[in-house]
Amino acid sequence: MRPQGMPKRRMLPAHYKELSVSKPRVDLFGAVHKGLRREIYATATVLEGANFADDAGKAAAAVALKTTLAFLDEHILHEGNHIAPKVKAVAPDLIPSVKEDHDEHLETSKELLALLAAVVGESGPVALGTGVKISQLFNTVVADQVAHMHFEETKINEALFANYTDEELTEIRVAIQTAIGPQRFGDWMTLMLPALNFAELVGMLGTMKATAPAPVFEGVSAIAAKVVKDWARVEAAIR
Ligand SMILES: [Fe+2]
Repeated sequence: MRPQGMPKRRMLPAHYKELSVSKPRVDLFGAVHKGLRREIYATATVLEGANFADDAGKAAAAVALKTTLAFLDEHILHEGNHIAPKVKAVAPDLIPSVKEDHDEHLETSKELLALLAAVVGESGPVALGTGVKISQLFNTVVADQVAHMHFEETKINEALFANYTDEELTEIRVAIQTAIGPQRFGDWMTLMLPALNFAELVGMLGTMKATAPAPVFEGVSAIAAKVVKDWARVEAAIR
């Protein structure tokens, strides 16, 4: 992996602002990346404040870290299985850097889980030292993930938008949702929904209400009622 604290820097495409405002398209990354960023920021904060010399502190840190890494690793799988082949078909030059990032992310995930396994049997200053290592390494995950997701939201989306229709992009999204399965799909909605702004919630839930089977919309609404702060306003807007 690259040295800690040294995230890659990529040039933004000159027209990236136009991508997000001038032509709304089916965006395979937007909502899920917002949810993942919210998740990793929260976990970074938990790890920085955790008392690794205390069993309860260790346990809380372990739950947060394992939960977040499971989402991140699974997300790489979804992108690799369903999005990468579509990108490869139209913009193969974009694939190597994304694959390199994904491989590094999976490697770092394993390193973090190994540190977590080690700290379970440690105590006192040794446990605190491992806790610092965990927190520092996870902060490189935050930096790398934010840069990586931005690359996907700009350069990868640019290639997808130029070569696939919204209907084709929706087919990719449905294939991912089908592969996830209903139970885990609920976990992903719990991750995503609180990260979205009002307009995005109205757009997503309004579309689901109009196009998804009623039980799916009802299930997602039940989750939203629990995790979205101003759900009543969203519900009123899509009524
Ligand atoms: Fe990715």
